[in-house]
Amino acid sequence: MAQLPPRMRNKYAVLLVFVVALVIIEKENNIISRVSDRLTPKQAPQSPPLSNVSATSPLKHNSSLSSLSELDAAFTHLRRRLENYTERAEPHRDGKKHIVLLATTRTGSSFVGEFFNQQGANMFYLFEPLWHVERRLSQEGGGAGASASASARAYRDVLQQLLLCNFTLLENFIEPRPVEHVTTALFRRESSASLCEDPVCTPLDKNVFERYHCKSRPCGPLNFTLASEACRRKAHRAVKTVRVRQLETLRPLAEDPRLDVKFIQLVRDPRAVLASRMVAFSTKYRNWKQWAADGEVPTDDEEVRRLRGNCENIRTSAEAGLRRPAWLRRRYMLVRYEDIARYPMQKAAEMYRFSGIPFTPQVKEWILRNTQASKEASGVYSTQKNSSEQVEKWRFSIPFNLAQAVQKVCGPTMKLFGYRFVHDKDTLTNKSVSLLEEKVFDFTF
Ligand SMILES: *[C@@H]1O[C@H](CO)[C@@H](O)[C@H](O)[C@H]1NC(C)=O
Ligand SMILES: *[C@@H]1O[C@H](CO)[C@@H](O)[C@H](O)[C@H]1NC(C)=O
Ligand SMILES: *[C@@H]1O[C@H](CO)[C@@H](O)[C@H](O)[C@H]1NC(C)=O
Ligand SMILES: *[C@@H]1O[C@H](CO)[C@@H](O)[C@H](O)[C@H]1NC(C)=O
Ligand SMILES: *[C@@H]1O[C@H](CO)[C@@H](O)[C@H](O)[C@H]1NC(C)=O
Ligand SMILES: *[C@@H]1O[C@H](CO)[C@@H](O)[C@H](O)[C@H]1NC(C)=O
Ligand SMILES: *[C@@H]1O[C@H](CO)[C@@H](O)[C@H](O)[C@H]1NC(C)=O
Repeated sequence: MAQLPPRMRNKYAVLLVFVVALVIIEKENNIISRVSDRLTPKQAPQSPPLSNVSATSPLKHNSSLSSLSELDAAFTHLRRRLENYTERAEPHRDGKKHIVLLATTRTGSSFVGEFFNQQGANMFYLFEPLWHVERRLSQEGGGAGASASASARAYRDVLQQLLLCNFTLLENFIEPRPVEHVTTALFRRESSASLCEDPVCTPLDKNVFERYHCKSRPCGPLNFTLASEACRRKAHRAVKTVRVRQLETLRPLAEDPRLDVKFIQLVRDPRAVLASRMVAFSTKYRNWKQWAADGEVPTDDEEVRRLRGNCENIRTSAEAGLRRPAWLRRRYMLVRYEDIARYPMQKAAEMYRFSGIPFTPQVKEWILRNTQASKEASGVYSTQKNSSEQVEKWRFSIPFNLAQAVQKVCGPTMKLFGYRFVHDKDTLTNKSVSLLEEKVFDFTF
């Protein structure tokens, strides 16, 4: 060491300080881990970022550190690790939570979205804002549509801005283009309580037609400046979307220090989803009806491939979440619609506990009201139904050969989520046979 030039000696000194700091942090980390282990009994074995510095550090390979460049590399590496650690240890001080409810169509996402929409004065909830993005992108390139990765980026960026209460980017996708940040064209405005209450609800203008106008009370056209201000005042924000294909594409949201994002992925038996889509989007599913009548489903048809693609996306996203990568730590929860339908109150409580948001009496009341049998006539998007009864209805509406086709195409997805296969028509319609395995998806990590 004596022969080292002063510059290098300084480097050694700084390095030493970092190593000491790392050791101290590591000690505290262990204590924290032990405490949190006690708090969450089901916690899986953890690998905190610093638990094994030497294993991945360049220091391991060479104890002599002969060259300055090696020292530099080691130094940079350790500094990054320290930065990484302090960043993660930094709590989100304002306590604001950002929920992203990820689903696909006909999985009960409107119903589950209401769990958050009904939370009360502290929640800013948006219903399917990416509808506009998908619509605009599908018209791009003379109707050819944007590529999957371009769409994914657009969804991600708009979602990120919305969680930050910034509507500017979304406005670019709305048609007709909002004038001075005011629009009459926001898709399903009435499904967001916070867009229909004071002060976002301005006095009604009788000369203006708004297709998705507020139902709870008459309001003027939507002013995004007011919406943005209201959003900023709320403690928590939630967005429901059926348009994000891969959870992985949302990683920048999880890593945005301005956000404290919780992803809730909602899944449902793909056979039930197909049965429900055939009713809701009748004209789009004409081929499936034909195949039901023919008794045979082609294996290489475009629509069959699309079903396979959807199932694979859902499975890949869930596997990414369940693999527990560091960026999703305590940020991912998987829920099956069937469990919500059977135990709505319990599941809602779990979702709130996971989100770190108070489970208010308003939500509880809404759930009690809306999981009772309702004789009211209901539209296709209605959430008022006896959920435990509704959830099994598909077994009587789907032709057996279509159920078989789904099992073939979506097999691995069904296995992952615990949806049992049926091998004959009688089992499909035999209510004493459950098609649902009891499964617990651990999200306490
Ligand atoms: C650190 O990594 C080494 C090599 O991979 C391994 O043998 C050792 O068990 C690890 N130690 C801890 C505490 O994880
Ligand atoms: C360790 O340092 C020696 C020089 O002292 C060098 O020859 C060797 O390649 C280094 N090993 C590694 C793994 O970097
Ligand atoms: C820091 O964290 C990021 C994201 O979690 C990770 O990709 C990166 O490898 C980490 N860097 C180091 C040096 O551990
Ligand atoms: C909102 O986002 C746009 C870009 O999408 C940006 O130019 C603008 O500064 C943002 N507004 C605020 C208040 O952050
Ligand atoms: C929208 O609301 C903002 C904030 O109150 C207001 O300044 C603006 O004039 C409103 N825009 C229109 C077109 O009314
Ligand atoms: C919902 O329907 C199921 C099956 O018909 C029935 O057992 C249950 O009591 C109903 N629940 C309510 C709350 O009405
Ligand atoms: C329905 O399943 C149960 C349990 O497997 C069986 O005992 C019963 O015979 C079945 N009913 C019919 C009508 O197949």
